[in-house]
Amino acid sequence: MTVNQQWLLARTPPEGLPLAADFEWRESAMPDPGPGQLLSRTIYLSLDPYQWGRRRGGLEQPGEICHGRTVAQVLKSNVPGYDEGDFLFNTNGWQSHGLSGEGISVFTYMFPRKLDPGVAPLSTAIGVLGMLGLTAYSGLVVQCQPKAGETVVVSAASGGVGQVVGQIAKILGCRVVGIAGREEKCAFVTNELGFDACVSHLGDDLPGALGAACPDGIDIYYENVGGKCFEAVLQYLNRNSRITRCGLISQYSNIDGRDAAEVWLEAGQAVFEKQNCGVFPLAVGKFVADHQDAFLGQMAEWLRDGKVTYLEDIRAGLENTPAAFRAMLEGGNFGKTMMQVSDDPMK
Ligand SMILES: NC(=O)c1ccc[n+]([C@@H]2O[C@H](COP(=O)([O-])OP(=O)(O)OC[C@H]3O[C@@H](n4cnc5c(N)ncnc54)[C@H](OP(=O)(O)O)[C@@H]3O)[C@@H](O)[C@H]2O)c1
Repeated sequence: MTVNQQWLLARTPPEGLPLAADFEWRESAMPDPGPGQLLSRTIYLSLDPYQWGRRRGGLEQPGEICHGRTVAQVLKSNVPGYDEGDFLFNTNGWQSHGLSGEGISVFTYMFPRKLDPGVAPLSTAIGVLGMLGLTAYSGLVVQCQPKAGETVVVSAASGGVGQVVGQIAKILGCRVVGIAGREEKCAFVTNELGFDACVSHLGDDLPGALGAACPDGIDIYYENVGGKCFEAVLQYLNRNSRITRCGLISQYSNIDGRDAAEVWLEAGQAVFEKQNCGVFPLAVGKFVADHQDAFLGQMAEWLRDGKVTYLEDIRAGLENTPAAFRAMLEGGNFGKTMMQVSDDPMK
């Protein structure tokens, strides 16, 4: 391929969910790596809810390439230790090819990380064996410190983060209850992931269903959603329970101008005080330096031993990225969502 295919942010999105008019397709000349840089082709592009927050919040400017973490293969390298053919976790964004290295400004926490394709499928580097898995681990294990026998509830349970949270909690001996949408997702969570129960937020009586699934109350809540899932959970929080506020996806497209985290805190404050809850906002970037290496080693072992499984929702074609992105934000995904941008030679 001689051109670089790219999605740019066309405008600061005005309101609600992503629209076609928010993005602009561009084909540009293939970049050449300068000193200290490498060129790679994108194989998998991660679609994550936080990308919408960046766009709506003005962190990404119109005319910029849409941000996104990627699995890529090196085509040309002027970086010692990185050779043609190497596989990387990097941040090419929504484009078929990208430069990494010196002078390349990307929203990332590290220089490209080389991947060993013998450890696990390459796609897992943007899922269970990457930042997403670390997000699950940091919020659950580091922040909430679960003990065997405790009840853990996780919302968006079949999604990228949720499925890992629940499986780690099971490994640690907890009773695990998921909250998810469609029946097929709830069935997957219990039958394939081994959660003890999963209730649907689409049902008529979420609080009633959650209460029945948590007869001993809730000791840990891993918050991915907010809104009515959070309201239901509040009723059952035990004394000294812990909550990690990982995400509030039900609020990302709200337009009333209020800060979603503040609204959430205000709604829970009385219960938090009464029950002496520990409440932890989560920003996964803060856990990379101290926990990433240990986490990656542990997760590779769990995957090898079959103690953790994962579901990926891999969509074909960079050109379909905006539609897949919107579908993920609406619950149209099933598992960790990513685009297959070019061939995975390990498959
Ligand atoms: N703090 C951090 O550092 C950090 C890092 C990574 C991710 N996150 C957060 O983690 C959460 C999960 O991210 P992910 O990448 O794993 O996405 P995901 O769970 O794979 O996909 C999003 C899911 O959210 C659910 N959802 C969307 N709107 C909803 C609504 N109104 N009510 C209830 N559920 C709704 C849908 O599941 P159902 O169909 O089951 O409803 C959808 O499939 C997000 O809030 C994200 O922002 C935070």
